[in-house]
Parts: sequence; structure tokens; C-alpha cells
Amino acid sequence: MGLQDIAAAVGTPCYVYDADLIRGAYATLDEAFEGYPHAIHYALKANSALAVVRLLHALGAHADANSLGEVDVATRCGFRPDQIIFTGVGKSAAEIDRAVSLGLLAINVESPGELDRIDQRAVAQGTVARVALRVNPDIDARSHPHISTGLKSNKFGVPIDEAPALFREMARRKGLRPVGAHVHIGSQITTLDPLTRAAEAVVALAHALRAEGIALQHLDMGGGLGISYDGGPVVNPADYVRALVTATRASGLQIAIEPGRVLVGPAGVLLTTVVDVKQFPGAKRFVVVDAGMTELMRPALYNAFHRIEPVVPRAGEPGPVDVVGPICESTDAYARDRLLAPVEVGDLLAVRDVGAYGAGMAHTYLRRPLSPEVMVERGEWRVIRRRQTLDELLSLEE
Ligand code: LLP
Repeated sequence: MGLQDIAAAVGTPCYVYDADLIRGAYATLDEAFEGYPHAIHYALKANSALAVVRLLHALGAHADANSLGEVDVATRCGFRPDQIIFTGVGKSAAEIDRAVSLGLLAINVESPGELDRIDQRAVAQGTVARVALRVNPDIDARSHPHISTGLKSNKFGVPIDEAPALFREMARRKGLRPVGAHVHIGSQITTLDPLTRAAEAVVALAHALRAEGIALQHLDMGGGLGISYDGGPVVNPADYVRALVTATRASGLQIAIEPGRVLVGPAGVLLTTVVDVKQFPGAKRFVVVDAGMTELMRPALYNAFHRIEPVVPRAGEPGPVDVVGPICESTDAYARDRLLAPVEVGDLLAVRDVGAYGAGMAHTYLRRPLSPEVMVERGEWRVIRRRQTLDELLSLEE
């Protein structure tokens, strides 16, 4: 069984995930807590393929959902409502209603207005909603600006100075029970310091609240741990967990984390076929592949780097090329001036580390149906989502 066989069977583009890498990544995080009370809420947004979510559930993960769709995917994949945290910067009335009626572990509150709306819906339903407050600690995650969330200038959460007053307000409300504090300062964070400082900030907040008689149950430290797309240094996941435990231990509070990328990112490759190679005198050499920003948005959105390798290398010296997709947008390029071994039309390329924010962010621009996803497990592979057909894509329309 090889990537070539999979591509031959299901066609390209296609995503291939390695279940054992996901298992290993989960175990590394889980074991690093060394028995300290914790829950690993898998951030479904990274990859919510049902088979991936079920795998994380089977491993003992809990869930972090960012929309009603993700809440429902989590429950369909076996998560109990009290294992699900619901975050989201703009929850609709329908989302609040359903989250309240399910009785989730925590709804992360993003604003005073939302606090009010959740309270009203809970009172109307004759229930009490467990809530956590998402605080914005004004800490620079030092990641790409498009995926940083912890600065005052970002739309997320409430300024941490306002948190004590809002916790008092939550404690007063009939429909709310404050159970936690939440912080998430960004994604693809590659240094430990901002993550540690954010953890220390919510621990200090919890201490202050306890002194006022508001006792929390958990501190939700968010997700954000980065992976090495290019071989450069990143934070060791076990060091990250140990730093969180060190910051939290004296409080005795349970730690929740919401990792996405670090669990599934390195487990995925995108297989794509070279459909054209062109070069004119004095100009770049373009390798055109059959996958593009429709299958992997990250290069176009964040200028993100993904390793690209021929599945069966040919002899010859690597040379600089632009690896570009077939979409009619100049940002539709996976790599620019990248050294790539010689390739010819028909060759299969693997784009690495697409397990997170690959298929999940795919779209159907140019009427390109969604590509299939394959899971490799113990030497066997199976299609976990088949290729969408054009008829299916058009089936919603008159
Ligand atoms: N928790 C919250 C509240 C989040 O907003 C996110 C990610 C996570 C957890 C999971 O973060 P992770 O551990 O995966 O870094 N599309 C971008 C990433 C956007 C992340 C959004 N929020 C990318 O492709 O890099």
C-alpha cells in the first residue's frame, strides 16, 4: 500500500490521513499532564471529517466546537454534551438556543451582550447554562496576524480587566453558572512564552475570583500550539503541557486545552497530479497541479509554507519552480521559487502537513467538487469521504 496506489484508486486531488500519527500526537499531549486533572478538547475546526472526529473520541478526547454544525458533528460522533465546549465570536440566536438546550460543558461567552442573550434563553428554557468567559489578555502570540486573536485590536473575547465585573454579573444571573475562564491567543504559535503568559493571566484571574467567592472549575487555555511546516524550531508539545500545569497547579483547577493543528496537521498529505509544466526564456518555471486554493487555502490566505515532494522522485538536480494550482487567481500558488526535483506531467506530488485546515477549509469555487479523504490505519486504507459529484454540488439549486 502506497500513496501511488491510493491516488490510482480514488484519483487526485485527495487527502490522506495517517491514524497512527493522530494517535501518537494525542498520547504525547495526554501523557505530558502526568495525571494532573485535564481534558483535551479537540478543536473540530481543524478537521471535522467524521472518521477523524470519531478517532479522537475513541482516544478519549473531548470536543471544542465553533458552530452549531460542529456541535452536532461532535454529538453524532459520540461526544456527550458535557464533553463539548462551544466557542464562537458571533453566536446566532439559534446556536445559543440549541447550545443551552443541550447542556454543554461550557458555552464560552464573548461579550456582555452575549452574556445577556444566553441568560435570557436559559431562563426561557427553565434551565441554567454553564458558561465560561473568554478573556482577551492583550498578549502577542507572535504568529501570522491573520491567525492571532489575543490582542486588544482583535475581535475576540473581553479585555481581561473587565473580566471580574462580568464574572460577578454571570454569578448574579438566574440562567448562568460561571464554571470557567477561557483564553485563546492565536494559532500556529511557535514560542512558549506567549502561551505561558496567557495561562498565568487566567490563573491570576481565577485566584482573584475565588477571593470574591466565585469558584471556577476549569481553566480553558485554548489551542494554538504550532507545528513545524518547514523543519524550523517549534515548541515541544510536552514542554507546553508542563508549562500549563506549572502555571495552574497551585490553583488546583482542571485544565482544558483546545488543540487542533498539533493533533491532526502532520497526519495529512494532499496528493495532486502535475497537469502542466511551462517555462519561457528568461521566465519562471511553473509546475501546474490539479489541486489549488480550493483544496488548500493556507498558502493563498496566509502565505503559508507546505513542503511539496514528488511521491516517486526522478533522477536529476532540483531546480527553482512555482508550484501553482489551476484556479484563475494569482494567489493560487502553493509555492514560489521552491527547489523541486524534476517533474513531468502525470507525476504525483505530496503536499505535506495538510491534516489541519486543509479539507475543512476547502470550497467549490469554479464548480470544483470536494475531493475525497482517505484514512490509513494499520497498513490498510479506506475512503472516509468519497469525491463529491457535480450532480451533488448542483443538487441544491433550482
Ligand atoms: N480554540 C479556539 C477558540 C480557536 O479559535 C482555535 C483556532 C483553536 C482552539 C484551535 O487552534 P489550533 O490548535 O488548531 O491552532 N485556518 C488557520 C487557523 C485558524 C485557527 C482558528 N482558531 C490556518 O490554517 O492556519
